[in-house]
Amino acid sequence: MVILGIESSCDETAAAVVRDGIEILSNIVASQQELHKIYGGVVPEVACRAHIESITPVIEEAINLSGLTFENLDAIAVTYSPGLVGALLIGLSAAKTLAWRYDLPLVAVNHIEAHVYANILDGHAVEFPAVALVVSGGHTAIFDCLSCTEIHLIGSTVDDAAGEAFDKVAAMLGLGYPGGPIIDKTAKNGNPKAVDFPRTNLKKGEFDFSFSGLKTAVLYHVKGQNAKVKTAMPEINERDLADVVASFQEAVVDVLVKKTFAAARKTRSKCIVLGGGVACNSRLREKFRQRSEQTGLPVYWPKLSLCTDNAAMIAGLAFHHLQAGQVADLSLDVNPTPIRAAQSSRS
Ligand code: KG4
Ligand code: ZN
Repeated sequence: MVILGIESSCDETAAAVVRDGIEILSNIVASQQELHKIYGGVVPEVACRAHIESITPVIEEAINLSGLTFENLDAIAVTYSPGLVGALLIGLSAAKTLAWRYDLPLVAVNHIEAHVYANILDGHAVEFPAVALVVSGGHTAIFDCLSCTEIHLIGSTVDDAAGEAFDKVAAMLGLGYPGGPIIDKTAKNGNPKAVDFPRTNLKKGEFDFSFSGLKTAVLYHVKGQNAKVKTAMPEINERDLADVVASFQEAVVDVLVKKTFAAARKTRSKCIVLGGGVACNSRLREKFRQRSEQTGLPVYWPKLSLCTDNAAMIAGLAFHHLQAGQVADLSLDVNPTPIRAAQSSRS
């Protein structure tokens, strides 16, 4: 069964063709990073315009590279939730048009569930129940996963997403955008113990996160008493800068690792899976690897190209929806809001 997946929830226009939920025949991603760079973050209006320009050529390229034609497809899959409403609508309109034109089933895929599925798509022997940590520019959440299509939210950020904190701290320090990869690289030359930044453990919601206090702590550390005054950041030498970002990164990673392992313990999970752009972070991977060795609990993460936003994970997961008879119709609408905790948790 061959499925075309379409993804446009944030700042990547992507299309991919995947066979039987596992064999990637093509995986095209048009990133808008350069367009958003000057704003230091994703601007929804700019994202939508870029999606409109890219969606058709990206889909055509994915089909051409797969060596197949639209007539060979068995279904069209699309991200319908969560994300930027205008951005989601562009992918959904393209998917509906193709499903109607080629008389194919339309499969609605949740972007977050697809990030979890990326681990299976990448060939990892994921056993359920599993705990998933999805960390990106828009999301930081822990899920209790009973199967690849049954996932329940058990914790999320109450303010900034982890990737957003990376991006905002990098912007504050004048390091550029997106901040995650730059901080990751810069931190390699720094001492993660140089500054003791706060690790926020919320009293309510044991698996919830908060990163805005940490971001403010970095600001106060660098600007001192002048932090509230709108003045330029003081000059900071390379060594101190590396120490500050390494210590910031360590604080983010510590909380993510601690809470994810605690969730896995509580849900008696057989493994942990990671997903989203921040799961590319080298220190995060190193610390998860260390804890995995200490506890004997397997931790998996997809290769870089499947960690960040892509459509192969959408087409891959759609295969399982289709097998379960979960097909949408042409009245399908987008749902920009993330999965809610109210959807239940077995823990
Ligand atoms: O999943 P993604 O590609 O897009 C969504 O936000 O959905 O994630 C992008 C986020 C950005 O905030 C970026 O700074 C962060 O992932 N990121 C990283 C790294 N690579 C990307 N954060 C920390 N370390 C990295 N190596
Ligand atoms: Zn994502």
